[in-house]
Amino acid sequence: MVELETVPPFFADKQELLDEILGRYPEYGRRSAVMPLLREVQHAERYVSEARLAEIGEIVGMHATEVKGVMSFYSEYHGEPVGTYHLQVCSTLSCSLAGSDELYDYLVEKLGIVNGEVDAEGRFSLQKVECLGSCGSGPVIQVNDTYYERVSRSRCDALIEALSRDEVPEPWRARGGDNEGADKADFLMHTVAAGEGETR
Ligand code: FES
Repeated sequence: MVELETVPPFFADKQELLDEILGRYPEYGRRSAVMPLLREVQHAERYVSEARLAEIGEIVGMHATEVKGVMSFYSEYHGEPVGTYHLQVCSTLSCSLAGSDELYDYLVEKLGIVNGEVDAEGRFSLQKVECLGSCGSGPVIQVNDTYYERVSRSRCDALIEALSRDEVPEPWRARGGDNEGADKADFLMHTVAAGEGETR
């Protein structure tokens, strides 16, 4: 006989949180709670399993496949566990022009994983994503919920080293005068310089 794996419902011991989320919407709009409920699960478990999809569907009155349909539209939700630190590299035009392709390649080399993979320790996962909404300050990496802007090669090294020690640096903001201490994005500069025999 095959024994099906059972997991306790995620929200079983989180009634207060559940009430708070559902209370944001009128009864007839309960389906709108699907996004914050998905977010809670993703945040806590680093992915949303089939069991959680069914649980969320039951809460909001949707079929699990409908919940999955919503989930599949957003890159922040995952059907398999991501790393403790999920690195999302913006690959859209503004960031690309600022060096995000080179930044991604550098991360591939540094972490030994490619888009969609998790490293052997489960510490880092890497994902190319579309615009993160910070187009004037690329290249941008989002680590879990934190933005790091104008990520130069040296800043990338510092970021990975800090995360390897389980230290999460404060967000690097580089917009509208809020860029004190930011060094200039150097991935494109590096590419040019490397061709001239200069490395950094
Ligand atoms: S293009 Fe990268 S944040 Fe918009």
